[in-house]
Amino acid sequence: MQVTIIGSGYVGLVSGTCFADFGHEVVCVDKDSAKIEALNAGKIPIYEPGLDDLVATNVAAGRLSFTTELADAVASADAVFIAVGTPSRRGDGHADLSYVHAAAEEIAQSLSGYTIIVTKSTVPVGTGDEVERIVRDVAPQADFDVVSNPEFLREGAAIEDFKRPDRIVVGTTSERAQEVMAQLYRPLYLNRSPLLFTARRTAELIKYAANAFLAVKITFINEIADLCEQVGANVQDVARGIGLDNRIGSKFLHAGPGYGGSCFPKDTLALLKTAQDHDSPVRIVEATVAVNDNRKRAMGRKVISAMGGNARGKTVAVLGLTFKPNTDDMREAPSIAIVQTLQDAGARVRAYDPVGMDQARRVIENVDYAESAYGAIEGADAVVIVTEWDAFRALDLKRVKSLLKSPVFVDLRNIYPVDEVTRAGLEYTSIGRS
Ligand code: UDX
Repeated sequence: MQVTIIGSGYVGLVSGTCFADFGHEVVCVDKDSAKIEALNAGKIPIYEPGLDDLVATNVAAGRLSFTTELADAVASADAVFIAVGTPSRRGDGHADLSYVHAAAEEIAQSLSGYTIIVTKSTVPVGTGDEVERIVRDVAPQADFDVVSNPEFLREGAAIEDFKRPDRIVVGTTSERAQEVMAQLYRPLYLNRSPLLFTARRTAELIKYAANAFLAVKITFINEIADLCEQVGANVQDVARGIGLDNRIGSKFLHAGPGYGGSCFPKDTLALLKTAQDHDSPVRIVEATVAVNDNRKRAMGRKVISAMGGNARGKTVAVLGLTFKPNTDDMREAPSIAIVQTLQDAGARVRAYDPVGMDQARRVIENVDYAESAYGAIEGADAVVIVTEWDAFRALDLKRVKSLLKSPVFVDLRNIYPVDEVTRAGLEYTSIGRS
């Protein structure tokens, strides 16, 4: 099949490359000519493990190409995916749909033969209807269907998530469109990943409901962790004890410094806006957003109290800056609020991240960057693990102790056994394991 992807950002690039790997002919389009030039020169503009090899293989096989020319790519396509950004609109938290609408208009001008237009971008309920209206206005004679096909790709594991999904959600009631979608996803379908056909608005809501539910789950265990600290319980054992119940499930029960990233914060806010507009509040998500916002600075205060309540003039080594490991993404990373809180309290921050330091420099000011974890720790008054990169999981704790000026070790991801750290002579503070 001929597939065209509009928007060669994270979602578009991963989806396009994986579709090409399934054997389809894929053209990825982007307005940013520097990005397209880079891609054509074999340079991948984002950090995603395995993506560079997969792009190279499919480009070499002639199934994947990149262009700024939308018209030709749309005219020849069986399916056109809209994978442009939908950032939170400044001021009101609504998803900004201007890129989606602009893409719909441009696509409409070049449609030829029966084409399905698929929204992959995360869009509020009803956006598919709007896209259909726009296309119909511009091209009244065009033969097309608009489909919702939300993505559930985790950064750092996006290729795996695309190729081995728990489910594929397809929102359309058109049988012709369903057939094209089934063909596109045939390799997965054959592998028995369930293909769930729903109405379009339902598919749009599934995406928001899924992300909001996961955000609620994380926030729930974070608050239980706080309670564990007060009552002398262990949150990891609580998570295991409840997670083994199949109705609950063990995933997304890792207590930590609060969720961040490009999806959960933005999508929970957008869901709340939709709920507000329809006078149908989702209070549990309102509470989740508020609790998570407070939590990030609270983690900074936790570090300060581990240092005896005074951070003025002290140096804190921060290990890990990105919102999670295996990405260079700093969007809504808890590290931003944590560093800010430490700086507000008069501390100097020295940070190290295996991949994210270039991005971090753009969003966090007045931080010294070290060349390694030990480089950050040397001479510091405390060390705090903010992101659970593998590189921080097996630190030489004796060496950490000898490098630190005072033995304060804060682990906001619970990646060490308590006794191992205390045995090394460090004062250990973690999450929900008092
Ligand atoms: C998420 C969804 O998982 C994905 O399906 C969706 O389409 C996009 O958003 P992503 O943002 O890449 O993916 O990361 P994810 O692995 O889900 O983690 C999100 C945040 O939650 C991170 O800040 C992570 O540290 C935090 N988290 C996750 C926890 O604090 N505890 C957990 O148990 C799991």
